[in-house]
Amino acid sequence: MSQNKFPSLREVHMKKILVTGGLGYIGSHTVVALQEAGYEVFIIDNLSNTSIDVLQGITEITNTPPSFVRLDLRIKSDVEKFFQTHKDIDGIIHFAASKAVGESVENPLLYYENNINSLVYLLQECKAHSISNFIFSSSCTVYGEPDVLPINEEAPIKKAISPYGNTKQISEEIINDVCKVSSLNAIALRYFNPIGAHESALIGELPVGVPQNLVPYITQTAAGVRKELSIFGDDYNTPDGSCIRDYIHVVDLAKAHVKAVERLINAENSAKFKVFNVGTGKGNSVLEVVTAFEEISGKKLNYKIVKRRPGDVVAVFADTKKANDELGWKAVHNLKESLASAWKWEKKVRGI
Ligand code: UD1
Repeated sequence: MSQNKFPSLREVHMKKILVTGGLGYIGSHTVVALQEAGYEVFIIDNLSNTSIDVLQGITEITNTPPSFVRLDLRIKSDVEKFFQTHKDIDGIIHFAASKAVGESVENPLLYYENNINSLVYLLQECKAHSISNFIFSSSCTVYGEPDVLPINEEAPIKKAISPYGNTKQISEEIINDVCKVSSLNAIALRYFNPIGAHESALIGELPVGVPQNLVPYITQTAAGVRKELSIFGDDYNTPDGSCIRDYIHVVDLAKAHVKAVERLINAENSAKFKVFNVGTGKGNSVLEVVTAFEEISGKKLNYKIVKRRPGDVVAVFADTKKANDELGWKAVHNLKESLASAWKWEKKVRGI
């Protein structure tokens, strides 16, 4: 509160958003975007796949330390306690979840417990405390192998290939079911492939152990942390034989969340539950990503072609019309800009 007897307009209008998993990769960039848009942010994170240092990075970028509590959403009693003491939450963005496809095949129960139980506990608290604005981190994985490209939100949801993908499908269904019978209004954002880092290089992606995703593997190889990149297959039915994805800058993705929050808070959601694709609308092959990276970094990347990775879809990229028209959001960064920010971040992390 300002020194002045009356609160400032900003204080009166400042909405409080709870961000679960707010110290993770997409979560941290979204916290920055929310704070820059004038929201007050409260972060919950169990630090299972990130570091407390991310809080410092967010604070340096925005000059505002977000509130933070270390909490594991699988512990129902802790979740209840949290909501008993924080009654002024205007909306929730729920990122906290496990996200490694391979790990989910090895340990499905971890995924069902972490991704589903936590969601159910959160939704129970939404009901108990009349929190009606909810944004969910979904994924293009819900589409499986598309029949038509670019893929739009009307495309059928196919049987999930991994328990991870299944948790995203089930979560969307749970949220939709709850919206039908309560005051909950929700938006699921179906992310395509998020890459890159904040321009300040104060926050970015910090994979624990060997990266599973393409771009951190590329930047770690260029930085000398990994010996060589394996490209999983060059015999797909695509122009250069490698798989095609829609790589979206994480800062663009973060801004889609701010648009979604605004839409819910201003009661502009035309249905109780809406889904939006969040991608660039452009597909790039793995080999194109490697070439683009070599161009922006000026480094020759050490790579070899190996056999296909089980479970990979051949090609997927977004039809973004719905997000453009209804959410009023559009990605502004291209592939090279995204890769340049990822490389800047990697160099900062490695001190090179
Ligand atoms: C997968 C999931 C996505 C999830 C994301 C989170 C599917 C279909 N997609 O994305 O929903 O949000 O993981 O982690 O389940 N590649 C290589 N070498 C590597 C790594 C990747 O060639 O070392 C290739 C892959 O074969 C793929 C592309 O790069 O063609 C992108 O892979 P990745 O970054 O792992 O993302 P997805 O598998 O698309």
